[in-house]
Amino acid sequence: MSTNLSPNSQSDPSTSPLEIRACGITKAFQDRPVLKGIDLNIPQASMTAIVGSSGCGKTVLLDIIAALMDPDAGTVCARDHEQPDQPMVNLHTLDRQGLDRLRRHWALVFQRNALFSGTVYDNIALWLREYAGLSEQQILQLARTSLTRAALDPDAVLYRDRDELSGGMAKRVAIARAISMRPRVIFYDEPTTGLDPVVAGKIHELVFDVHHSTIDGFARTSLVITHDRDLLRRLRPRIVMINAGRVYFDGSYERFESWNDPLALAYLQQMPVLHSRQTPS
Ligand SMILES: Nc1ncnc2c1ncn2[C@@H]1O[C@H](COP(=O)(O)OP(=O)(O)OP(=O)(O)O)[C@@H](O)[C@H]1O
Ligand SMILES: [Mg+2]
Repeated sequence: MSTNLSPNSQSDPSTSPLEIRACGITKAFQDRPVLKGIDLNIPQASMTAIVGSSGCGKTVLLDIIAALMDPDAGTVCARDHEQPDQPMVNLHTLDRQGLDRLRRHWALVFQRNALFSGTVYDNIALWLREYAGLSEQQILQLARTSLTRAALDPDAVLYRDRDELSGGMAKRVAIARAISMRPRVIFYDEPTTGLDPVVAGKIHELVFDVHHSTIDGFARTSLVITHDRDLLRRLRPRIVMINAGRVYFDGSYERFESWNDPLALAYLQQMPVLHSRQTPS
């Protein structure tokens, strides 16, 4: 099966091969079940938003999908872009090298940003230096472009220490770091929480633009966890709503928005409140 998607195939991800397949994912903490059997297919070139009330398990699901956490049961398989002709690989059987190979094409924007101590430049440069093998000149150029795209002034922030950034600035640095990696698959965990409406609007455009641009001829796959109704309106992604540990809804944005379901209606009404809460740093 060819995975070299033409820009054309981006218009109908439902016919694309899968990028990720999660089957029967369960997870409990101290016998408190969080995920009770999640099945989720992510086609290549698709844009999927995972929504659901605070604490329902969205970040835990993302951590499991990205192989940062083991599920109690279930499997996650993903496309290895370094071996495009091979079937999808089971993440939890991969060794460190295998995971690194996969992750070379993935980028994550963590809910709490996960910037390490050091400057903004250090944060962006590390991966590009170690894995992409770029020169310092190329890294500097890419860092500046990515920061600008994430609505930051590179001259003002490039050499600032992580601890000198506001919450909203750190969020944008985390986004800049992710896009600088030029990933084929990008995961965002609440990319706009805590941002003011103007900056949030710029991030909506960025998420849209990144998704709709190809990388080395490949269409991108985006997975966004969000409580931001304006982001959903702008992106109009496939919506997967998690409730009580299971997939409660899986369908188009249009269907979700017009769904006359008490839980979905209550959640949509609560969304602006959830979105405006500050993410702890
Ligand atoms: N490492 C952990 N140890 C114990 N409990 C955990 C751990 N990680 C998550 N949990 C619990 O699992 C549940 C789901 O957490 P998760 O962070 O996935 O929620 P969420 O849907 O992302 O919420 P939010 O919208 O607030 O980010 C919560 O009750 C949380 O306390
Ligand atoms: Mg979360």
